[in-house]
Amino acid sequence: MSDALQVFVLGPGMITQLQVLPSLYHLQRQGVLGPITVAGTRATSLKALFDDAGHKRAFPGQSFTPVPDFRKHEPDAPDAYKAVLKKLPPRQCAVVCLPDQMHYPVIKELLLHDQHVLTVKPFVLTYKEAVELEGLARDRGLLVGIEYHKRFDDRALIARKRYRAGDFGEFKIGQAHLIEKYYYQHSNFQNWCTCENSDAFTYIGCHYVDLVAFVTGLLPVSVSVYSKPQPWPNGKMGYLWTDARVLWENGASLNVINGFGYPDDGPGGNTQGIVLHMDGPSGGGMMWHSDQFRGVKHGTLKQGGDPGDTAFMETNPDYFQLIWRGGEGLEPVGYGFRSIEYIAKAIARIERTTAGLSPKDALAKRKEMLAQYDCEGLMATPGNSSYNELVIEAGRLSITNGAREAVIEYGAEPYVRLK
Ligand SMILES: NC(=O)c1ccc[n+]([C@@H]2O[C@H](COP(=O)([O-])OP(=O)(O)OC[C@H]3O[C@@H](n4cnc5c(N)ncnc54)[C@H](O)[C@@H]3O)[C@@H](O)[C@H]2O)c1
Repeated sequence: MSDALQVFVLGPGMITQLQVLPSLYHLQRQGVLGPITVAGTRATSLKALFDDAGHKRAFPGQSFTPVPDFRKHEPDAPDAYKAVLKKLPPRQCAVVCLPDQMHYPVIKELLLHDQHVLTVKPFVLTYKEAVELEGLARDRGLLVGIEYHKRFDDRALIARKRYRAGDFGEFKIGQAHLIEKYYYQHSNFQNWCTCENSDAFTYIGCHYVDLVAFVTGLLPVSVSVYSKPQPWPNGKMGYLWTDARVLWENGASLNVINGFGYPDDGPGGNTQGIVLHMDGPSGGGMMWHSDQFRGVKHGTLKQGGDPGDTAFMETNPDYFQLIWRGGEGLEPVGYGFRSIEYIAKAIARIERTTAGLSPKDALAKRKEMLAQYDCEGLMATPGNSSYNELVIEAGRLSITNGAREAVIEYGAEPYVRLK
């Protein structure tokens, strides 16, 4: 384990606790990854993550180094991560779990410090930023993997195989929805998901836009997003409910609705799914995925203590679960784990393959391997998924202009404009 990659997680929030850190712990247990450091801003959130009872049960004896270190009473500091970065040897595994608007400056800093990057979605918020970071990473031979975990759901891979083989026909029209629970309205979202920064489509709609591109290989060409702003509980105005229409290069259309108001007593963590209709020479094709209700209903004697927990649950066994598969502790299973595993192993593979080469040869080999990942397109990278940034930009342009259609112009220098 001594030459295993060091892991540097930035952001000890919800997604780190739920999916990212347990995945990293398991990869550490398997010897794929080495010591883990987690940087945050506040001792309280780092301590809560450090003491997480579920993690302790699943990964006995494993933990991380918190920065700032609450055990040494180090003061809260928003730039504590910078000191870690300075000392980190080049080409380790940096994991970005920060609020959306911090991704661009922090990932740039990580790349300038020669670190490989695994980042949660969205990569960045503008196409220009995506291109800049793509160039930076390519020149230095660094991998940037964007964690769109729906891509690692087997149903998406089955659909992709069928679509690419022509089994479905051509995508014509579709609908997707993802509505988060109502309690989100009272969470930290009200502080940042306000009209000037974001909206329900930007936050969560990107998953289904990326999925349609992933399955069909089509590019989105125009976006319009309708929403009537309303106040969050703290009075700040937000686009809490969005209705988006995304047009594709072949003329197909996808309607995506997003919001924050699935009933807290509802049995799923949210409600979500997608239906695509296809047209072929000899008949119609269809892809219908219920992504929240996956055929499992469990009723327990008591409900859990977290917001939105219910005693009667439609548990999703496919996204992320910690289960016993023999031995000590628990193992993560599901596409949430597989997605993190794929990116972390890709970074480890690149470093393993190029170890011992001269710096010049190692850089050339890393670039060759990165080009291969870009081309395969299983993992979202800046090089193969920047249509997502264009959709975010077009969506923001539309929603802030009364749902006017915003067009994506591809070509040498893609950009978005109001139609
Ligand atoms: N389905 C998905 O793919 C999915 C789901 C949830 C969140 N996300 C993404 O994950 C990211 C984080 O979301 P979250 O829900 O965990 O948010 P969160 O608010 O729970 O966590 C963000 C964390 O970043 C920390 N942070 C802020 N500034 C920092 C700094 N300077 N140094 C270190 N830490 C700092 C905050 O203290 C907080 O702990 C977002 O980009 C979000 O869009 C993706």
